[in-house]
Amino acid sequence: MRVPLIAGNWKMHKTVRETLNYIRRFRELVSEVTDREIMIAPPFTALYPAGRELAGTNIKLGAQNAHWAEKGAFTGEISPLMLKECGVEYVILGHSERRHLFGETDEMIRKRLSGVISAGLKPVLCVGETLTERESGKTFEVLERQVREALSGFSAEELKALVIAYEPVWAIGTGRTATPEQAQEAHRYVRGLLAELFGKDFAETTRILYGGSVKPENIAELMAQSEVDGALVGGASLDPETFVRIVKYGG
Ligand code: PGA
Repeated sequence: MRVPLIAGNWKMHKTVRETLNYIRRFRELVSEVTDREIMIAPPFTALYPAGRELAGTNIKLGAQNAHWAEKGAFTGEISPLMLKECGVEYVILGHSERRHLFGETDEMIRKRLSGVISAGLKPVLCVGETLTERESGKTFEVLERQVREALSGFSAEELKALVIAYEPVWAIGTGRTATPEQAQEAHRYVRGLLAELFGKDFAETTRILYGGSVKPENIAELMAQSEVDGALVGGASLDPETFVRIVKYGG
């Protein structure tokens, strides 16, 4: 059984004060949720106070990126160990904004993944095609390249905590969600690839989240798909009253 994971990617939103106000409200709203995992990924500056505020709750803390080294001359980067000390459990890697706005390559993402795994953190690897790639029939090709390159050289054992997020770039922040059928098709393809690379058991236990304009209005139909194991939510995770409606889908 794959336990659903509903994750909020806050991107570059919320100061420390705003983060704490959010958490104090949100933890009350979700305190009774036990059948699914909940995660929020605030900006780096808010992680430490957020971790303290989340201790003892059912909300996991995530980070939005991590470097591969423990420390060193890497101006502007944050190491997995630094994140761990803040109480971080999950780390989002390879988000399309990192790939497209900041030039992250599959190779960099593979290295980041390696650092995250070495630190005992759980990677959430984002993959997804652009609109042009979809329209030219390259969706599966792109997903295959992103998954293969990021995961190359790792064993199934090393990747046991891996979560994948399928996020079609054309659906991120655009209000244009993939249809449940499009999500199901892409997730099924990725799961098939995982089976080929690491075996059927690995593929069956690895969670694949959908991301891209997830809202309270569309979460239930996405989660009704057998291959969709959760959601990575951007804009709609920024307000606790909205995000709780996504977390409590179907309830
Ligand atoms: P969105 O972002 O929900 O605002 O479309 C999703 C994401 O980028 O993870």
